[in-house]
Amino acid sequence: MAALRSVHVTGWGAYTPSLVLTNADLERMVDTSDEWIVTRTGIRERRIASPTDTTASMAAVAGLRAIATAGLDVHDIDLIIVGTLTPDYPLPSAAVLVKEAIGNAHAAAMDLAAACSGFAYGYGMAHAYLASGLARHALVIGSETMSRCTDWTDRGTCVLFGDGAGAVVLSASDEPGGAMGIELNTETAATYSIWIPAGGAARPANEASVAAREHYMRMKGQETFKLAVRKLASTSLMAVEKAGITLEDIDLAVPHQANVRILEALAKSVHFPPERLFVNIDRYGNTSAASVPIALTEAVAAGRIKPGDRILLAAFGAGGTSGAIVLKWTADPANRLRAEGIGPERVTLLDSGLEPINPFPPALEWMLAEPGHSAAAQTPATAR
Ligand SMILES: CC(C)(COP(=O)(O)OP(=O)(O)OC[C@H]1O[C@@H](n2cnc3c(N)ncnc32)[C@H](O)[C@@H]1OP(=O)(O)O)[C@@H](O)C(=O)NCCC(=O)NCCS
Repeated sequence: MAALRSVHVTGWGAYTPSLVLTNADLERMVDTSDEWIVTRTGIRERRIASPTDTTASMAAVAGLRAIATAGLDVHDIDLIIVGTLTPDYPLPSAAVLVKEAIGNAHAAAMDLAAACSGFAYGYGMAHAYLASGLARHALVIGSETMSRCTDWTDRGTCVLFGDGAGAVVLSASDEPGGAMGIELNTETAATYSIWIPAGGAARPANEASVAAREHYMRMKGQETFKLAVRKLASTSLMAVEKAGITLEDIDLAVPHQANVRILEALAKSVHFPPERLFVNIDRYGNTSAASVPIALTEAVAAGRIKPGDRILLAAFGAGGTSGAIVLKWTADPANRLRAEGIGPERVTLLDSGLEPINPFPPALEWMLAEPGHSAAAQTPATAR
């Protein structure tokens, strides 16, 4: 077996839909308040996928941006992994739709089910694949349309989540740098702390399950909160230890954006300076598997990451999954400009042949009728 190669982030990109749902909007839908949401979670607004955005279409735009940033051709990609809990269909995978939409010729394509840790797990799997010499370039995406599995009558969950996609290109190299330590683990005690009861093989969707709202996500908030803090801390520490450094050596941590109080508690528990934590939850809420790559893309655009920096990516998700990656950044942040001008108009998903339906949540239909819910005018960085 050849020696392991190093694996670098060479491309990155994100796509967030333009429809914005604010806390004030939610006040009109459920018994909540802007004050409660901001103080308990740090979230001010979140993006909602339009009727034509799907998990695969958003993933494809983020993916194309990441490939352009890497300066690669779509055919250079050998492996496509989409971390998601909201694929367009149970079958085929969202990754297959992404591969077709971006026009890639020969990559292996698959989805990865690790909930909010889906991107971190995908990163770990792609790293192993590239480091061992099986391929040169992998596209790792986190993409979610959480609005489609959210119960918009449940104030305990509907204020938390949002839609979007983020991606990186990982490339094998003989140059030093790239991932230094990776830790992925799963704690089964949290198996049913966040779940969607119906729609799988154990409880196929039927009229009774729909009437009982079992096709929507359910969550035990406090239980999840405590586990998230504990697992983000322990998993990050293990990745840092594997990298042979300490938390003090980390220039920027880009954690999963679930709740700003989780991040504050995390920083406190491991004595990490909060100013070295990247936070953008106020504008996107929890976008599940998409949150780390969206945050990473924004951190680069904001000038928070430069070559030589040691970066910690850390995620926690349903099923007690958690993952952390310590990496040495080597790419030129200015490469992001290569992705400018790539938008959703570049992506068309393969027609299924079925009569199209509108997947937009009925509880949010009013957003489409009311002007002023689009963030397009406020989102200058198309390369994000
Ligand atoms: C969901 C979460 C914000 C709730 O915050 P909390 O401080 O734990 O609040 P509690 O669950 O104790 O609820 C406190 C009260 O607020 C109420 N409440 C819940 N959601 C509310 C909302 N959106 N607006 C107003 N009140 C709300 C509860 O009903 C409860 O009322 P009660 O005291 O009359 O019973 C918090 O537990 C959390 O973020 N958990 C982690 C969730 C997460 O990150 N999931 C994804 C992991 S990847």
